[in-house]
Amino acid sequence: MKPHDTWADVYDFAYEQEFKAFYTRLTQSTLATVRSRVRPGSSIVDFGAGTGRLAIPLAREGYKVTAVEPSAPMLARLHAGADSLAIEQVCTSMQEFRRGTAFDLALCVFSVLNYLLDHESLASALSNAVDCLRPEGALILDVADRGLFGNRNFNGARLQRHVTVRAIDPAVHEYTESITLPGDPPRHYQDRFLIRHWTVDEVLDTAARCGLGVAQELSEELPGAGARYFLLRPMPGR
Ligand SMILES: C[S@@+](CC[C@H](N)C(=O)[O-])C[C@H]1O[C@@H](n2cnc3c(N)ncnc32)[C@H](O)[C@@H]1O
Repeated sequence: MKPHDTWADVYDFAYEQEFKAFYTRLTQSTLATVRSRVRPGSSIVDFGAGTGRLAIPLAREGYKVTAVEPSAPMLARLHAGADSLAIEQVCTSMQEFRRGTAFDLALCVFSVLNYLLDHESLASALSNAVDCLRPEGALILDVADRGLFGNRNFNGARLQRHVTVRAIDPAVHEYTESITLPGDPPRHYQDRFLIRHWTVDEVLDTAARCGLGVAQELSEELPGAGARYFLLRPMPGR
């Protein structure tokens, strides 16, 4: 079992219900950030694409999108939403993805790095990202603030959601998701997996060791997400 497998069917609904207009705004701002860096027709690899929140609209706008996602049920939702759009779908992790051709842009956003639990995985994910970029390509990633590692309760009329985050050590946490959709009968969804808090320095130092340098901080373009966003580029001569 992979994180998200058990509640992929209600993942989008849960975020839409809990975060409402903010979630839509964040998606729109992230798409605008991509559009202002690469033109339609460019190739984009979306690491941890989830259900296609970004991959689907980008493909609709004419980008050549490859969605990399280790959870088969999440990828199945993306597949259903993609309809007739040509999105290449690869069910694997960022660390294991292999590709001969190079992309113009890689995305790794909305807490994807938090699923990497040790320094070795972070390094192999980031070195894989740089390996699959063109020399003038770019990687956009986010680093979630510690503030996101807290308990949350949402009690809406159409969905109740309880998230608990328990520290196992200063970095690694146990994340528990519990969702109920009221009805007769009500439907319940549960998930439990480990996540890790990475500091900005840990991520950027590891990225630098992998040959990726920060070209720009994008956090002001994507405010309120509880994360810092960066655009990194392969270092010359790496
Ligand atoms: C919070 S979701 C974000 C989805 C999407 N990036 C978005 O912006 O909506 C995190 C996703 O990362 C995926 N994931 C977990 N471990 C991963 C890994 N090692 N490599 C790539 N994706 C991973 C999860 O399965 C999940 O779909």
